[in-house]
Amino acid sequence: MNTRPHIALQGLRKLYPGNARPTFDEIWFDIMPGEFVCLIGHSGCGKTTLLNILAGLEQASGGTVIVEGRELTGPGLDRAVIFQSHALLPWMSVRENIAFAIRSRWPGWSRAEVEAHGQRYIDLVHLSGAERKKPAQLSGGMKQRVGIARALAIQPRILLMDEPFSALDALTRGALQDEVVAISATTRQTTFMITHDVDEAMLLADRIVLMTSGPDARVAEIVENGLPRGRTRQELHRLPGYAALRNHLLDFLVERPAGRPADPRHPPLRRIGAAEHPATANPR
Ligand SMILES: Nc1ncnc2c1ncn2[C@@H]1O[C@H](COP(=O)(O)OP(=O)(O)OP(=O)(O)O)[C@@H](O)[C@H]1O
Ligand SMILES: [Mg+2]
Repeated sequence: MNTRPHIALQGLRKLYPGNARPTFDEIWFDIMPGEFVCLIGHSGCGKTTLLNILAGLEQASGGTVIVEGRELTGPGLDRAVIFQSHALLPWMSVRENIAFAIRSRWPGWSRAEVEAHGQRYIDLVHLSGAERKKPAQLSGGMKQRVGIARALAIQPRILLMDEPFSALDALTRGALQDEVVAISATTRQTTFMITHDVDEAMLLADRIVLMTSGPDARVAEIVENGLPRGRTRQELHRLPGYAALRNHLLDFLVERPAGRPADPRHPPLRRIGAAEHPATANPR
């Protein structure tokens, strides 16, 4: 078994100029190859900042990020980002925005190859028919779906997502969550995703990192998702352990813990959501 982390966050700290105290400090955790990690924390604790550092778009004020054994120095095509607000090139159509990313990833591809590959992802996010539209002609949810298609189309080894589905209606969100489950099961890419949606984290994540409120935010705890693998959105709420895991995550959000774990290098790890009792003989 490969035990080297794909991404290792080592003592990350961010102090924005003009602020008296760092937004977060001493953030330590690992993301293993193929793992799906969700980050949950209150607004303003620094989740987007942390993700941008992993993307290489923002500099940490302290600490390092190690990706596959090497210190991270900037953006790279091994990582794709789905932003909290869609970041599309406004003068390009849906098709061109996606093709632009595909061409940067596979410069040798013919025009036909780029188009065919792009179309698969346009269809995947149900934007067929809108290929020629410019971002200004799209709804917020549609723009977000272009961002998702563009990120998935480059088949990144690492997918970084900042609340990718939060602006979508419930039906579209559910459909895209199902797609993410299916894509992750086949590509096994390493994924780091910020979400405010506890059910979404429970459906998608192998582990859920809980961040305290800032300033000086830390990792409060890491929760291992004990719900059975291969879970679907429809059956999620009926799984044994669902209530225990959900309540644990919601309690964390309600209580707004600002306390510091004793050793930030080793935040407490808890496994919740596994069936508490092994299957007992049916009384009948
Ligand atoms: N460029 C900046 N200059 C100064 N302060 C900033 C800057 N960007 C973010 N901040 C501050 O850093 C903190 C963390 O911001 P960030 O966007 O990372 O939070 P977040 O956890 O993603 O919040 P949300 O859940 O609302 O998206 C906030 O208090 C914010 O005001
Ligand atoms: Mg954010």
